[in-house]
Amino acid sequence: MFTKLVVASSNAGKVREMQELLRDFDFELALKPPELDIEETGKTFMENAIIKASYIATTLKQWSIADDSGLMVNALNGQPGIYSARYGKTDFDRINRLLTELKYSVDRSAQFVCAIAIANPEGEIVIQTEGICEGEILTETRGDNGFGYDPIFFVPEVNQTFAQMPSELKEKLSHRGKAFANLIPLLKSF
Ligand code: IMP
Repeated sequence: MFTKLVVASSNAGKVREMQELLRDFDFELALKPPELDIEETGKTFMENAIIKASYIATTLKQWSIADDSGLMVNALNGQPGIYSARYGKTDFDRINRLLTELKYSVDRSAQFVCAIAIANPEGEIVIQTEGICEGEILTETRGDNGFGYDPIFFVPEVNQTFAQMPSELKEKLSHRGKAFANLIPLLKSF
């Protein structure tokens, strides 16, 4: 069993979050070297997670984990999807763009998706999982927690947006929480 995993991301917050989600294991998680740039050329979240994990693993000859996530809005044919981070310059811009595009839409249904891939030092994908959280896009923001599209993503089963939830509840219901919950038994039996 491997103990060190390089996270294919330049976001230190993501490493901290993964360390927390993988607390049952003794992994040492490290951030990828900043000079290693990865082009996300995939057409799906899973393709992008695989590209990132595989590239970092083969380049560094180490085990690597990558995730890719975003928001798919049904009335926009799944957009912004894999372009969620590139949909505007700031979270404020991205939220405003989405609300403008949905201005006349009655269908507000959407889902957050998270794909995770783990690659061995040869770049082969040994584990892949996905998590989905269904919700609705509100017409205005609600709540101050979280990041990204959290203030407009409403989860009917708990009557709250991601931005209104305490972090433990978001961890339980969110696409990322579910993807990691699916990952854990696979890692245990690996
Ligand atoms: P990445 O997978 O970290 O590159 O995230 C892609 C983009 O999707 C982020 O920049 C956010 O805009 C959006 N996103 C992913 N997960 C969440 C979430 O849990 N809440 C809000 N926005 C998210």
